[in-house]
Amino acid sequence: MKKNKAAGFSTRAIHVGQEPDLSTGAVAPPIFATSTYVQEEIGKHKGYEYARVSNPTRDRLEQNLASLEGGVAAKVFSSGMAAINAIATMLKEGDHVVCGNNLYGGTPRLFNQVWADFGLQFSYVDTSDPRNVVRALNRNTRMVFVETPTNPLMALTDIRAVSAVCRKKKVDLVVDNTFMSPYFQQPIALGADMVVHSTTKFLNGHSDGLGGVVVCTSAEQAEKLAFLQKAAGAILSPFECWLILRGVKTLAVRMQKHDESGRAVARFLAGHKKVRRVFYPGLLDHPQHELAKQQMSGFGAMISFETGSLANANRLLRKVRVCSLGESLGGVETLISHPATMTHAALGEKGRREIGITDGLVRISVGIEDVEDILEDLDQALAAM
Ligand SMILES: Cc1ncc(COP(=O)(O)O)c(C=O)c1O
Repeated sequence: MKKNKAAGFSTRAIHVGQEPDLSTGAVAPPIFATSTYVQEEIGKHKGYEYARVSNPTRDRLEQNLASLEGGVAAKVFSSGMAAINAIATMLKEGDHVVCGNNLYGGTPRLFNQVWADFGLQFSYVDTSDPRNVVRALNRNTRMVFVETPTNPLMALTDIRAVSAVCRKKKVDLVVDNTFMSPYFQQPIALGADMVVHSTTKFLNGHSDGLGGVVVCTSAEQAEKLAFLQKAAGAILSPFECWLILRGVKTLAVRMQKHDESGRAVARFLAGHKKVRRVFYPGLLDHPQHELAKQQMSGFGAMISFETGSLANANRLLRKVRVCSLGESLGGVETLISHPATMTHAALGEKGRREIGITDGLVRISVGIEDVEDILEDLDQALAAM
């Protein structure tokens, strides 16, 4: 069996880092629930000394995720935010970061309310036009940080074009690939220097654990991040690593179903008279539909739509039954949320207005239930609006 990079995506998801346990033959990777490791004599051990530094279950997950994203290494953290925080920690006072202006709300909250106090500088621009990135770069810029598609407005950044700009200026491009997962989008192949995920979402896929990962393209990045795991300690527990190892085995089939149902729900919403606008890169009227077809191999499960007002959104969200009202995304169950009061509350009204997040906007993460049930549920809930 091919277990290296040449093997297909699902084969790597199921086999890389997922090899049977050597001592027992157990097919499922063991959960090494240990804080420390016995040593034979001073300085003589089996490569493991203390679990904050390394753990065999964590090693397995890191190998697996590095393979799926096409990186040289991956380092996992206790949440997506801890992973993004680790990336910020790689910078120095006075460094400048150009960010997309429509990131997950927690990211600008971390940057502006924590890291700005330690001398990092941030500019937020609409990265759907690479010229805005060029204009925002300055002498101190060390990093460009984007999410594509964005949360919740589903705007795309042309990863190849922005990476070309970054390369010229020796600036690192970091892509948050949470929405697409490596199954539908491979930012490293398009030129990104690092990829970050909230593994809480599609990678785990079952809404039962938090986690984050940074996938690296150089040994230097991996070394810095391994040092941060040891020095700062925001590592992922062996059990959570195991949950993700289990989740990724079905990533491909889940993503195929998410995508198929996502397209059906987007078409249904686009044709519904009470829905004013649908944001989904798979729709022909999405302004970057062509880029979506080139850059992604599917359109995914994430859809936002405009109900017209807070009152309408509320009426709809009170009525849903199959869709669960809640934050988060990427689980097997359909989750529906209200960005203005949930994921993007931290931006404040002005911040939301500037990037176009209205009080009537609703976001849906289409799950893998029977799609007829999701459509019927949305239909009855929209009728109440
Ligand atoms: C795109 C994106 N990045 C990062 C995060 C943060 O991840 P976590 O909640 O695992 O800390 C989220 C959370 O919703 C997200 O949607």
